[in-house]
Amino acid sequence: MNFDRTILVTGGAGFIGSHLVQRLLTNYPNYRIVNLDKLTYAGNLENLREVEDLPNYVFEKGDIVDAAFLGDLFNKYDFDSVIHLAAESHVDRSIANPMSFIETNIVGTVALLNAAKYHWKDFEGKLFYHVSTDEVYGSLGETGFFTETTAYDPRSPYSASKASSDHLVRAYHHTYGLPIIISNCSNNYGPYQFPEKLIPLMINNIKNNKPLPIYGDGKYTRDWLWVGDHAAAIDLIFHEGETGETYNIGGNNEWKNIDLVKILCQIVDELLDRPAGSAEKLITFVKDRPGHDRRYAIDASKLKEELNWEPSIQAEEGLRKTAKWYLDNSEWLEHVTSGAYKEYYTKMYEV
Ligand code: NAD
Ligand code: TYD
Repeated sequence: MNFDRTILVTGGAGFIGSHLVQRLLTNYPNYRIVNLDKLTYAGNLENLREVEDLPNYVFEKGDIVDAAFLGDLFNKYDFDSVIHLAAESHVDRSIANPMSFIETNIVGTVALLNAAKYHWKDFEGKLFYHVSTDEVYGSLGETGFFTETTAYDPRSPYSASKASSDHLVRAYHHTYGLPIIISNCSNNYGPYQFPEKLIPLMINNIKNNKPLPIYGDGKYTRDWLWVGDHAAAIDLIFHEGETGETYNIGGNNEWKNIDLVKILCQIVDELLDRPAGSAEKLITFVKDRPGHDRRYAIDASKLKEELNWEPSIQAEEGLRKTAKWYLDNSEWLEHVTSGAYKEYYTKMYEV
């Protein structure tokens, strides 16, 4: 079969990557999508079950840190573009073990940049799209928003590793002329998010009548975006964004953690047919995260004005959809938390 484009998506078995891969495969049957993923604890091929048999989909198990493997992959598929999502993504894990974040997020990104630069002798029609986070901008006070020109001020090992990768991607553009685009997005939520992150962790704990750990005073603020809206934004920027540019993506949907968890409590009580107020009793204030960023908020007006992008759903609807999905998919939850299913898939793809 002849394809119009061959795109390497890294981290396609993860939370956001799997939504993006599904979207690209279904919206562009004339594109071949090669999903490269190491299948860490956060990567699950089960997330892609609905599309894994499509003729334009290929899965390659591998590590983005492995330069020789990347060289072979570029030779094999002759990609015209890369959409790079593979990363270690959880702040608490980065506090416990920064080194794996340095390896994957920094060294892995440079290995990918090198592979693209080496293989794409002619940069015409090529694109290296780097998916990043708003956490690179640091922490806000009560007011203000991050724009594309906000100075970088990362404060956790996770955000420092992502900031570093952003700088390196820009450096490859300025130094070698590699065509790049970067987007920095706020906190995502929705189906297939590993249940260590705030929203799925809370839903799972409510279901199991376990304590709901709120770090510090609970007044930390995040700007939440429905994961499908992030995938739609990446699709749009990939096709219509300007090379060399950065785009901020956000939900315009700020919540203090404690208020968000209280709404989730109401929704999940309702869905589980439990008396109102049952879940809220599980809220437990715990020791704060070290170096906890107080507030993130994105100004996404560049994306709206230049590419006409807006989030499609707001929190209440999105949280209800998310809670329902996790309650309806307890098998998925069990698989990803037990690891048994992951081991099975990992073996299947072992070379
Ligand atoms: P995730 O942790 O759910 O998925 C990461 C994926 O990368 C997994 O499938 C994992 O197996 C794979 N991976 C990890 N190390 C790898 C390696 N060395 N080689 C190959 N694959 C590897 O993460 P996510 O939440 O889907 O985030 C995806 C990207 O989006 C990340 O770059 C993250 O920084 C960025 N981002 C995330 C959010 C968010 O709220 N989750 C917000 C903004 C930006
Ligand atoms: P998280 O989902 O880890 O995303 P990030 O740290 O990248 O923003 O956390 C979102 C917010 O929720 C953050 O302020 C930390 C807080 N939090 C809790 O209060 N309790 C928890 O158990 C978790 C995982 C997070």
